[in-house]
Amino acid sequence: MQRATTAAELAEVMVGAGPGSPRDRAVVMTMGALHEGHLALVRAARERAGEQGQVLATIFVNPLQFGVEEDLAAYPRTLADDLRKLEAAGCDVAFNPTAQVMYPDGEPQVRVDPGPLADDLEGAVRPGHFAGVLTVVLKLLHLTRPDVAIFGEKDYQQLTLIRRMVVDLDLAVRIDGVATVREADGLALSSRNRYLDTEQRQAALVLSRALAAGAAAGPGGPGAVLSAARAEFDREAVTPDYVEVRSVELLAPPASGPARLLLAARIGTTRLIDNAVVHLSPSAAPTTMR
Ligand code: PAF
Repeated sequence: MQRATTAAELAEVMVGAGPGSPRDRAVVMTMGALHEGHLALVRAARERAGEQGQVLATIFVNPLQFGVEEDLAAYPRTLADDLRKLEAAGCDVAFNPTAQVMYPDGEPQVRVDPGPLADDLEGAVRPGHFAGVLTVVLKLLHLTRPDVAIFGEKDYQQLTLIRRMVVDLDLAVRIDGVATVREADGLALSSRNRYLDTEQRQAALVLSRALAAGAAAGPGGPGAVLSAARAEFDREAVTPDYVEVRSVELLAPPASGPARLLLAARIGTTRLIDNAVVHLSPSAAPTTMR
């Protein structure tokens, strides 16, 4: 695996794959502290790029997406371990720039305006977060010039906003989402799980249980999905930050067909999010006619 820490080093190792070349370049963007969920993205990137293509992973803890309440300095940094994991998962190039490389003048003056969806759901408790995410994603897309960029469905609102940016700003890149990786008992992998003690980890299973209950209630429509999911939180005596059913683009839910159930809850002081597809169907409709 090759490494680059500046734009010039990156340009050197990117030669030979990417837009205009017969070989594809696939990119996975991360903030490090890598777990199996990230590695699933790298393996997906390897599949998309093929053996002849190039897989590039970025590791950058982006200060722009941290709120004043959020501790940027405390974010886990495990570079040596991350590099080993990336190489083992089939990554060809790791790009880990410093903040000085990404933002030489400190904070950039120009940022991406993510639009109204960025004030909703996660954005309601993290003002400015998605402007910071989209700004760094756009910069990293320009620096890495991929044919395809892979993001996890775990951060579904982030994935949706990135797709929106690509459409609205005519970016020449394909965005692929990859399903959330879970522990055997259903807990979605997250860098934040490390903050849960044994009891909290058990309590955190309420999120995946609420998703399963909500998905099972899909035939009853959005109201039934919400009631079933909320009942799981009531049973665990956890007050969720939100439980929402939306369209796959995170707008109002459709009357039937695929939709998304999204949850956030604080377990102790750790805020966890999760989401899943739910199929809303007017199951009351007769399936056979006499
Ligand atoms: O999902 C993340 O880890 C980050 O938000 C991303 C996409 C790497 C941007 O900093």
